Amino acid sequence: MIDDVHLDGDGPLQHQLYQQLTQRIIHRRYLPGNRLPSSRQLAQDLGVSRNTVTAVYDQLKAEGFLQSRAGQGVFVHENISPSMLQPGKGSTLRPLSTSGLLPPIPQLTDRHINRAEDASLPFQPGLPDLEAFPIRSWNRILHHHESRRALRGYDSTQGYRPLRRAIAEYLRSSRGVRCQEQQVIITNGAQQALSLIVDVLLEPGDPVFCENPGYRGARYALASRDNPITPVPLREQVLDVDALNALGPAKLLFCTPTHQYPMGGILDISQRMALLHWAQRNQTWVIEDDYDSEFHFHKKPFAAIQGMYEDAPVLYVGSFSKTLMPALRVGYLVVPEPLVEHFVQSKRTHGGESPLLTQATIAEFIETGQFTRHLRRMRQLYRGKWLHFQARVAEELGGLVTPVAESAGMHLVLEGNFDDQELSRWLRTQGIGSTPLSAHFTGDAASTGLVMGFASASEREIEQCVSLLKQWLTSSMISG
Ligand SMILES: Cc1ncc(COP(=O)(O)O)c(C=O)c1O
Repeated sequence: MIDDVHLDGDGPLQHQLYQQLTQRIIHRRYLPGNRLPSSRQLAQDLGVSRNTVTAVYDQLKAEGFLQSRAGQGVFVHENISPSMLQPGKGSTLRPLSTSGLLPPIPQLTDRHINRAEDASLPFQPGLPDLEAFPIRSWNRILHHHESRRALRGYDSTQGYRPLRRAIAEYLRSSRGVRCQEQQVIITNGAQQALSLIVDVLLEPGDPVFCENPGYRGARYALASRDNPITPVPLREQVLDVDALNALGPAKLLFCTPTHQYPMGGILDISQRMALLHWAQRNQTWVIEDDYDSEFHFHKKPFAAIQGMYEDAPVLYVGSFSKTLMPALRVGYLVVPEPLVEHFVQSKRTHGGESPLLTQATIAEFIETGQFTRHLRRMRQLYRGKWLHFQARVAEELGGLVTPVAESAGMHLVLEGNFDDQELSRWLRTQGIGSTPLSAHFTGDAASTGLVMGFASASEREIEQCVSLLKQWLTSSMISG
């Protein structure tokens, strides 16, 4: 019966024998009740030690493939579990049918989503200057924490306490956010904060409002449960607060009041107050995405709307993706205290804790004042790039594009009447990142242009980008 086993493949003899016997049983070449040779006989036939065969037989008995009968020998188990056997001769595992099992992946207008290799191109919106990151100081702190036993295990799902404390302190003093450390939840980027908000607060059918044009990451998260999304138009590059009254109630409103993404407008005080009163009247939670307020070049940015009133109905979202680097994947959410446990519970089931070593490193980076110094240096650096980019655009691209420029942020929108998706694609082939403005609209795009993140570009890359833009835009005008 065992003349079909040959131990001449790769790997230890014991493993090969185990594999071959199980395969034969699974594929019903050896049927339940069939007798196997004694271990001594099989060892002799195969030219291996008896110990090898005994070990495999013992293993197969333990797994329920074989059984011993006293005084008779070893047999394929009579009652071998059907789940261990394959139907049909020689069959292998059949692929699971996935049709009808999984919903189709939603189409996120995803011609526009950047592939991973494009995500670090100069001018890619959202990307800070990675060269300017103080990697040596960072590594010193990181290495110190790596040797701490206390940071090798699990910690709080809500987030490492010293980091929550440092963030709360920073937000109170720099952004006017009303918060204590117990209201801060560390998230895996702003994106997870948005997903948690959806999970905790949205019931099926609850209406959601989003700025239009707006941040696509937010739209994707907020639409992920098929809730109806109403685009709210902008007026003069900021959320049109007056338009809200005509739109009816909403459970959530997503906005970027301190630097509208992508158009760059800054919501003024009276509109901020009107927005909060509207939210209060309509029982709406305002999601305030404060993604790059650290980079205002001429004056201090407005304080966050979260801190304007005690108990303002605001969920505050922030991220270290721009102030430090995107690869950390650390963001934060500030919510009213009664909601905290709901969010922590949701985070527990959606990813769990955030990486502890990274959290500890950021905490020390903030506590030792290095974060503030880094922000100061980056503000100077980005201001220089912003001025230079604008000057070059004005000199070279006048009449071809209109820069939409507030004195803030890490990106500039160049509006113009051209096929922004084609231009963005072409720039990518030249090693320059951007996103088409039209991709930030829900429904029909009211305008076209390019969103260009200048923070990651060197002076030489700014020159190169402007001349490429000029080349493409002038040739498209001629051919158009
Ligand atoms: C408007 C806006 N919010 C938030 C973020 C940060 O997202 P995350 O923390 O998930 O990297 C970005 C990054 O590009 C952004 O543009």
